[in-house]
Amino acid sequence: MSNAQSAWRRLILVPVFPAQGPNPDKPTADKSADMYSRDKNGLFKALGEIYPTGIIEYLPSGSARQSVSLYSFKKLSFMLLNRIMANIICIANQKGGVGKTTTAINLSAALAVSEKRTLLVDCDPQANATTGMGLDKTAIQKTLYHGMIGVATADSLIMQSEIETLKVLPSRVELIGFEVEMMSEPDREMALKNLLSDLEDSFDYIILDCPPSLSLLTVNAMTAADFMLIPLQCEFYALEGLGQLLQTIKRIKHGLNPKLKIAGILLTMFDKRTNLSHQVAENAERYFKNLVFKTTVPRNVRLGEAPSFGKPILLYDATSSGAKSYFELATEIMNNSPNPNKMDMNG
Ligand SMILES: Nc1ncnc2c1ncn2[C@@H]1O[C@H](COP(=O)(O)OP(=O)(O)OP(=O)(O)O)[C@@H](O)[C@H]1O
Ligand SMILES: [Mg+2]
Repeated sequence: MSNAQSAWRRLILVPVFPAQGPNPDKPTADKSADMYSRDKNGLFKALGEIYPTGIIEYLPSGSARQSVSLYSFKKLSFMLLNRIMANIICIANQKGGVGKTTTAINLSAALAVSEKRTLLVDCDPQANATTGMGLDKTAIQKTLYHGMIGVATADSLIMQSEIETLKVLPSRVELIGFEVEMMSEPDREMALKNLLSDLEDSFDYIILDCPPSLSLLTVNAMTAADFMLIPLQCEFYALEGLGQLLQTIKRIKHGLNPKLKIAGILLTMFDKRTNLSHQVAENAERYFKNLVFKTTVPRNVRLGEAPSFGKPILLYDATSSGAKSYFELATEIMNNSPNPNKMDMNG
């Protein structure tokens, strides 16, 4: 039995927690959600601190206790565990036009429609993810830049998208200034990590869209992230520069962010009719083995069109092959989260 399974066994054996009694003001079909909302702090502490090593000794004693159905208890525990395990995924490749932003937008949307509370953070001064999500840059007061230089809180910058569970932290061209202004600051690589630390409890997934460089902004994203997702365009020079990117990841893992891992390499703009696409896929699999995502994103006209309508592909053409592939990618990531850990970067 795996650790996770045995932890569940322990959790299930003790289906009790501090009772709050029914809330007479609020008819509720979902008792676990109701209890969670009224008692989240106590329970979060009780469950969050002990999972997965035991539970009994951490349950508050002396208070009234109430049995709950196995279903409610499991659901409640999942909600609490999701609070703890926010996954921050950095989408980076210093090569331009390989599908970083397309992946950031559409992976975020696919996670969000799968009921994951998702935040898309646009770390690129080009702000393609911001406009691709339909946000009007000129109407936005403050952006990621203001958060990273410390004149705005993360909360105050977050904007709602068309999908209820998907929020966006927008960018604009002024973000270029961050690199220059922070050059001599001692903690310049930690600005994004510090900003996002206030939000980690509020989301299941935080997706970071990086600019096409290994600049201070990308280093900030890698420092804040748990996982790297590297899009690889299926074209002749696909693998060029990948060594440099992997070296940078390794350096950041050894210095600024020891927990950083590679979630996977994603083949994008795959055209099954061309030998070149197949060759790139074969080479990637030969060099990177199980590090390559099973999902491949096809070249798909609808994916290229969607940003000009300010919509993720799932809202623009949900039946397209592009939409299907990003939904598959989200499923692959959800199945492996919170610990894809496909590669030991020390190895
Ligand atoms: N699978 C795809 N099929 C067709 N077009 C695609 C696909 N993926 C991306 N594109 C298009 O290719 C172009 C580059 O994609 P995208 O902007 O996602 O790359 P990027 O890596 O974010 O670029 P940059 O390095 O400039 O930030 C865009 O016009 C986008 O619409
Ligand atoms: Mg981009």
